[in-house]
Amino acid sequence: MKVTLDAPLAARTTLGLGGPARRLVRAEIVAHLHDALALAAAASERVLVIGGGSNLVIRDGGWDGLVIEMALPGVHIVREGSHAIVTAGAGVVWDDLVAETVAARLAGLECLSGIPGLVGATPMQNVGAYGQEVADTITHVRVLDRQTGRLETLSPEACGFAYRTSVFKGSERWIVVEVQFRLAVSELGQPLRYPELARSLGVADGARVPLRVIRDRVIELRRGKGMVVDPQDPASCSAGSFFTNPIVDAATLAAVEARLPAGIAMPRFPAAGGMIKLSAGWLIERAGFTKGYGRGRAGISTKHALALVNRGGATTRELLELANEIQNGVRDRLGVELVPEPVIVGVD
Ligand code: EPU
Repeated sequence: MKVTLDAPLAARTTLGLGGPARRLVRAEIVAHLHDALALAAAASERVLVIGGGSNLVIRDGGWDGLVIEMALPGVHIVREGSHAIVTAGAGVVWDDLVAETVAARLAGLECLSGIPGLVGATPMQNVGAYGQEVADTITHVRVLDRQTGRLETLSPEACGFAYRTSVFKGSERWIVVEVQFRLAVSELGQPLRYPELARSLGVADGARVPLRVIRDRVIELRRGKGMVVDPQDPASCSAGSFFTNPIVDAATLAAVEARLPAGIAMPRFPAAGGMIKLSAGWLIERAGFTKGYGRGRAGISTKHALALVNRGGATTRELLELANEIQNGVRDRLGVELVPEPVIVGVD
C-alpha cells in the first residue's frame, strides 16, 4: 500500500478547492482499509474517506491527518426471475454503474444518470434526482465498522435513509465498501415521478418510457443546469446542490408566504408526515441572489441558483463566505434556514 505525503486534494474534488492531506492512501482492496486505519491509529491521526469528491468541500488548510481514497472495484449482476441483484464496489464510478444497468435492461437507477461521484458515497446522503433515490432500490450496504474492525451487512432499515441523509452522514463509524441493489428486469423505466422530466419527454406524469430515453433526457436536463461535471462547462465546477431543500411544517409555510408579495406563487412539494418541501433554489433567487451572483472568485452558478461554483482560483473561505451570505439573506428576508448539503471538512 502506497502512502503519499502532503497529497493535493483540490484536484480530487469537483469544486477544485482545498488544501492537501498530510497523508493519503488509495484503497483498492479491503485489506488496504485495515492497514490504513492501523496506520492512522498508530499516529493518532483522524481519517477522512473520500470518493469522487463531488459532494465535498475541503477547507484551505487541508486535512491534518490520513485520507483514504476509495477505489474498491467490481460490479456483479445476478438475475433472479423478474429481478436482478446488482452488487457494486464502493469505488465504482456511479454513472458507469447506471449505464451498465440501463444497458442490461434493469430498471431502478435510470433517473440517477449523470450524477458524479462513486457508488460508495450514494448511501451517505441517499442520493436522489428526478423522482428516484438510492434508498428505493438498495437491499444492503456492506460496511467496515471502525468501532469493531469487522465487516458488517446493514439492512436498508439500519441505514436510516431519509431525504438526503442516512446514519452514515456525519458519522465516522462506518466505511462503505459495497452497495447492493435490487432492480426490475424491464425495457421500460419505472413510472415517471418528476413532472419536469415527464413534461420534457412529452408524456404524462406516471408514464413509462424506455430506460435509454430516460437516461439520455436526464443527462440533458442535468447538463442544462450545469449538473454534469464537464471541464468545458464552468458552471459545473461545483459540489452540485449546495443546500438541501428545506422541509417545513404548515405554520412555517404560512409565515414564509406572509413575507411574499401578493400574487407570487412559491413552488412546493408534498413531503412525508404532512410536511412541505420548499425549493432552495427558488428561495435563494427570491431573496435577491440571482444566478451568476459573485463574491471574489466564488459565485452562484449561471445555470442553477442552488449550485455554488469555483470560477477559477477561488478559496474555500470565499466559497463558504458566499454560502453564509446566502443563508443570512434567505433567513432575514424569508425566515427560512438553509442547511448545506455537501460534507465540509478540514482546517482553515
Ligand atoms: N428553481 C429556481 N431557480 C433555480 C433552480 C430551481 O427557482 O435556479 C426552482 C424551480 O421552481 C424548479 C425547482 O426549483 O422547478 C426545482 O428545481 P430542480 O428540478 O433543479 O431541483 P432542485 O430541487 O433544485 C434537486 C436535487 C438535485 C437533483 C434535482 C433533480 C436537492 C438538494 N437537490 O434539486 O440534486 O438533481 O432535484 O431531481 O435535493 C444534488 O443533490 O447535488 C443535486 C444536484
